[in-house]
Amino acid sequence: MAKDVIIACDFSSEEDTSAFLGRLGDRKPFIKIGMELFYSAGPDMVRRIAGRGYKIFLDLKLHDIPNTVKKAMANIAGLGVSMCNVHASGGIKMMSAAREGLIEGAERAGAPSPLLIAVTQLTSTDDDMLRNELLIGASMNETILKYADNASSAGLDGVVCSPLESKMLHEHFTAKNVPFITVTPGIRFRENDVNDQKRVTTPGEAGMLGSDYIVVGRPITTAADPCEAYDRCVRDFTGRL
Ligand code: C5P
Repeated sequence: MAKDVIIACDFSSEEDTSAFLGRLGDRKPFIKIGMELFYSAGPDMVRRIAGRGYKIFLDLKLHDIPNTVKKAMANIAGLGVSMCNVHASGGIKMMSAAREGLIEGAERAGAPSPLLIAVTQLTSTDDDMLRNELLIGASMNETILKYADNASSAGLDGVVCSPLESKMLHEHFTAKNVPFITVTPGIRFRENDVNDQKRVTTPGEAGMLGSDYIVVGRPITTAADPCEAYDRCVRDFTGRL
């Protein structure tokens, strides 16, 4: 699996997204489209951007009963995206149904089935919330490992996690000889503002900790020269260029 940088396109309209992508010249990076843009610009926007040659991680974090998630995933597979996700807290049946829906939808569209990854615990969830609000007695790391095991049992490709969790998960799955990818946000260059991220690593550190994909937003999207920032991310993270 080749490591890659995914640019988080957290813009509120297709116009702003296209204007940003236009600034990257002939680069066709892997980009992430999240809920904000999807719910304003819709599935046709995703089809149009995918049709222009961009690989897309559609970050909609599905969580519903298995049948509903399966049908929604079959539709997502027809949009031409390369990666999508669900909440692992929906359970193994829901995650298996998501995988089945993607396979069915991809077959119908004559397209490859997208990578499917799970969100274990949101980074906005802390130990106090886990115990006192969600009434989960296990520790954060125990729940992350268990949810990742569930995702793997359901046939998912990996999880979204912090670079430090990525190291723990790679050790866990390597010991079991099971392929498993980690997709990690919370990336900053040394000189960047941390913004609202709590624990951050540089692209180079994330590479050393074993992340397969890093998700990078503002360090690229708000850079004076986004091409330079993107190329630097790819170089530091993958060693390519
Ligand atoms: O601008 P920045 O690099 O902080 O953007 C990171 C992206 O990754 C955002 O789209 C954010 O929603 C997403 N993300 C995150 N932390 C998670 C999951 C997703 O920052 N745990």
